Amino acid sequence: MHTEDSSIVWSAKKMSYVALFRPMVPLALALLLIGSTGAQLEYGFYKNSCPYAEFIVFEEMTKIIANAPFLTGPFLRMHYHDCFVHGCDASLLLNSTNNIPAEKDAPPNLPIRGYDVIDGIKAKLEIACPGIVSCADILAMIARDSVHLTYGPYYAIETGRRDGSRSVANDTQGNLQPPTANFSTLATTFIQKGLTAKDLVVLSGAHTIGHSLCSSFSDRLYNFTGHLDLDPTIDPTYVPELKCECKPNDNTTRVEMDPGSAFNFDLGYYKGVARRRGLFTSDDTLLDNPETKAYIERQVMATPDEFFKDFAESMVKMGRIQVLTHGQGEIRKRCAFVN
Ligand SMILES: *[C@@H]1O[C@H](CO)[C@@H](O)[C@H](O)[C@H]1NC(C)=O
Ligand SMILES: *[C@@H]1O[C@H](CO)[C@@H](O)[C@H](O)[C@H]1NC(C)=O
Ligand SMILES: *[C@@H]1O[C@H](CO)[C@@H](O)[C@H](O)[C@H]1NC(C)=O
Ligand SMILES: *[C@@H]1O[C@H](CO)[C@@H](O)[C@H](O)[C@H]1NC(C)=O
Ligand SMILES: *[C@@H]1O[C@H](CO)[C@@H](O)[C@H](O)[C@H]1NC(C)=O
Repeated sequence: MHTEDSSIVWSAKKMSYVALFRPMVPLALALLLIGSTGAQLEYGFYKNSCPYAEFIVFEEMTKIIANAPFLTGPFLRMHYHDCFVHGCDASLLLNSTNNIPAEKDAPPNLPIRGYDVIDGIKAKLEIACPGIVSCADILAMIARDSVHLTYGPYYAIETGRRDGSRSVANDTQGNLQPPTANFSTLATTFIQKGLTAKDLVVLSGAHTIGHSLCSSFSDRLYNFTGHLDLDPTIDPTYVPELKCECKPNDNTTRVEMDPGSAFNFDLGYYKGVARRRGLFTSDDTLLDNPETKAYIERQVMATPDEFFKDFAESMVKMGRIQVLTHGQGEIRKRCAFVN
C-alpha cells in the first residue's frame, strides 16, 4: 500500500493519464463490490455516452488548480454542501431567481469560492458530449480530483446523478450545521443522511486542506460565551498565534485549517485536533465521543492508509445521498440555471 501511495503522488506530479489510472484498479474493484447495492448510480456511467468525461474534468482541474490551488478546499466542500441539502443534485450551483435566494446565497455557502470556474468545466463537457454529463456528477468529480491533486487518495466514483431544479437558501437550515455545532447535533445530521459517526470523523478529515474565514471561529478567541472570553478547550499555546492572524471582527482574512499543510491531503488535521488545535467547535467536539476520539488518536501515529481508504468509502457513500437518476431531474446545459 505504501509504495502504491508514492506512485499515486508521482503520477499526480507527472499528470500522466495512463500512470494515473493504472495503480488504482484494485481500489476501484474493491469499491465496486462495496457499492453494488441500493444506490442506482454506477461506476463508469459515461463509458459509452461520454467516455472521456472524467479525463476532461481532470485535465481542466489540473489547469485550474495550478493557477488557484486554494480552490481545492472549496471544491471538496461544494460536494458536501450540495449532497446534504436534499441530495447530490447540484442545487448548490443554481443562481437565485425571482427574489428567492438560492442555496448559494445562504450564509454557510457565501464563503465558498470557485462557482464561476465550474462553468468553464461544464462548457468543455458540452463541447465534447452535449447534454450528457450532469452538474451533480461534475461536483463529485472535482471533489475527487481536488483530493488527488493535493496528494490524497485517488478513488473511483459512481456517476449517473441528474440535476435538480429546487434551490432555496432556507433549505440549508438544519442540514448544514454551523462550525459551532456539538457532537450530538453533527452525528444526528449525519444519521439523517444515512451516514454514521465514523463517516463524520472521516469526512471531517477533509479539513486537512483549505482555509477558513476568521469570522467562522473568532468567537472562540474573543467572545466565546458572550462575555468577551476565550474558549477554554483550545490549546492555550495555540491561541496567541490565532489571535495574531485573526483580529476581532475580521471578516475577510482566511487562515489555513491545517497550518503549514493546507495544500496536502494528509493526517495533519487529526494531529491538530488531537492537540486541541481544531479551528472549529465542530472539530474539537469529535474528541467528545469515544469512537470518533479513538479514530483521531489512532491517526496521530499512523500511516495514511486507513484514512485514505476510509475517506474514499465515505465519499462514495455521501455521493449517493438522495440522488436523482434515470428519468428524474435533468442534465443542465449551464450549471447555474435550470434548462
Ligand atoms: C450566477 O451567480 C454567480 C455567483 O454565484 C454570479 O457570479 C453570476 O454572475 C450569476 N450569473 C448570472 C447570469 O446572473
Ligand atoms: C427563511 O427563514 C427565515 C427564518 O428562518 C424566515 O424569516 C424567512 O421568511 C424564510 N424565507 C423564506 C423565503 O421562506
Ligand atoms: C448540542 O447542541 C444542541 C443545539 O444547540 C443543544 O440543544 C444540545 O443540548 C447540545 N448537546 C450537548 C450535549 O451539549
Ligand atoms: C459578545 O457577544 C455578546 C452576546 O452574543 C454580544 O452581545 C456582544 O456584542 C459581543 N461583543 C463583541 C465585542 O463582539
Ligand atoms: C465585514 O465587516 C465590515 C466592518 O466591520 C462590515 O462593514 C461588512 O459589512 C462586513 N461584511 C460582511 C460580509 O459581514
